Amino acid sequence: MTAILHTGDAERGALWQEIVAREMPGTDFRCWPDVGDPADIRYLIAWTLTPELVASLPNLEILFSIGAGVDQLDLSLLPPHVRVVRMIESGITNTMAEFVAMAALSLHRDLPFYIASQRAGRWDPQDVLLCSERTVGVMGLGELGRASIARLSPLGFRVLGWSRSRVEVPGATCFAGQDEFDAFLGQVDILVCLLPLTDDTRGILCRDLFAKMPRGASLINVARGGHLVQDDLLTALDSGQLLYAFVDVTDPEPLPDAHPFYGHPAIFLTPHIAGVTRKETAVHSLIANLRRELAGEPLAGEIDRGRGY
Ligand code: GLV
Repeated sequence: MTAILHTGDAERGALWQEIVAREMPGTDFRCWPDVGDPADIRYLIAWTLTPELVASLPNLEILFSIGAGVDQLDLSLLPPHVRVVRMIESGITNTMAEFVAMAALSLHRDLPFYIASQRAGRWDPQDVLLCSERTVGVMGLGELGRASIARLSPLGFRVLGWSRSRVEVPGATCFAGQDEFDAFLGQVDILVCLLPLTDDTRGILCRDLFAKMPRGASLINVARGGHLVQDDLLTALDSGQLLYAFVDVTDPEPLPDAHPFYGHPAIFLTPHIAGVTRKETAVHSLIANLRRELAGEPLAGEIDRGRGY
C-alpha cells in the first residue's frame, strides 16, 4: 500500500482529499487523525513535525512542506533518506509579490510619514520622487525573491538582488556572495529580506548590516523572524539609521503582549500574512509533484537536506 497523510488544517485536508480523489483516482489520501495502518504512509504533508508523528511512520519516503520554507519543520527528526519538498505554488508567490510591492510603494510614497502627519493634524507635503529614483534590494533570489522582483521592476524601481551563489534575474542587477554584499547594501533604499532561514542567515538583519545601508533606508522582512535581531532594529530605528520597517514575521509568533514592536511608530507589524499557501492552488502543485514522483521525474522544490533549502 502507498498512502499519503495530510496533517494540520482539517478543512484543507478535506478539500485536498476530494480534489486528489478526482484528479488522481485510486490515490489513498488520508487526513490525520484517520491514519489507518501507519506502515502504509509513504508521503506526508505537514507544516510542522512532532517526534511522535515521525516515529509512527516507519515507511515514510517524502515530506511535502505546506510552506515555502522548511525551517519550521524539525528535519533532524527525519531519517536521512526521507526527501523533503518545499511548496512552490502560485498562491504563495502571488501573495508575497503583492505584499512586497505594497510595502515598497508605501515606503516609496512616504505613506508612513503621511499617516503620522494626519494623526498629528499636520499638513506637510514632502518632495515626491519617482520609483526610478528609488533602489529596492531583494536578498534571496529563490521563487519568492524572483516573483517579487517581477512585480517591483515594472513599477519602475531600480532593483538589485543579492544571493549566496550567483544567479541572473530579469529586472534586477544581481550581486552574489559575501564579497559583493557591502556593495549591494550600500545602494539600497528599501531592503527586502526573502532569504531562507539557515544557520548562515539567522540574525543576518543586524546592526552591522543596517550600518552598511544608506542612512534613512527602510526594511521589509517577509522571510522569517529568525533573520532579524530585534533589539538591533529598535536601535537602528531610534537612531535614524533606518527610517521604517515592515515586519511580517517574528520570533516567536505571535509576539508576546507588550512587545515593543506593537506600539512602535516606525514599525508596521503584520501577523505572518505576506505570502500564504492557498489551499485552492497549492493542491495542484502537490498533484503535479505526485505525478512526477510516479513517473520517476525530479520533484519541483526538493531541498538539499545538507544545505537546508
Ligand atoms: C510561510 O511562511 C511559508 O513558508 O510558506
